[in-house]
Amino acid sequence: MAAIGAGGVGVRLSPGNPLNDVADADAPATCAHVMRELAKRKLAYLHVMNMQPGFDVPALVRANYPGQVILNAGHDRARAEADVAAGVAAIAFGGPFIANPDLPARLAGGLALAAPDKATFYDGDACGYTDYRAAA
Ligand SMILES: Cc1cc2nc3c(=O)[nH]c(=O)nc-3n(C[C@H](O)[C@H](O)[C@H](O)COP(=O)(O)O)c2cc1C
Repeated sequence: MAAIGAGGVGVRLSPGNPLNDVADADAPATCAHVMRELAKRKLAYLHVMNMQPGFDVPALVRANYPGQVILNAGHDRARAEADVAAGVAAIAFGGPFIANPDLPARLAGGLALAAPDKATFYDGDACGYTDYRAAA
């Protein structure tokens, strides 16, 4: 951060994410503490993956992080609009971008989104990455 300034740094948190055997007995408390510490540092943005059922990430953000927040996980257009209306700066899309090469146009046009095929995530060949089609 010293080299480029905190305003040039974004941080991503994935509270409660169990991938790679990560375990946290009190993920909300850990996340709240980290958010409060990051808030002191005036980052460009905080990106929060909201993936734990029953874990109210938007409320945690409102209570602990006053800066620019990008929220991610499980968004469609309606949920993205609701979160932005509630004060989130931006929404990040993961799987929907894999399955919808024309995702911005589909969101802008209110078109249905194709669902990604999870069986083709992470490895394999072009199948699942380059064979999704844009809406006609
Ligand atoms: C194939 C695939 C690979 C991913 N790789 C990473 C990764 O390397 N690092 C990371 O932080 N998140 C990774 N993610 C998680 C996404 O960034 C995102 O948090 C997740 O897909 C939830 O957002 P979504 O509901 O819009 O898909 C990956 C997701 C997918 C589908």
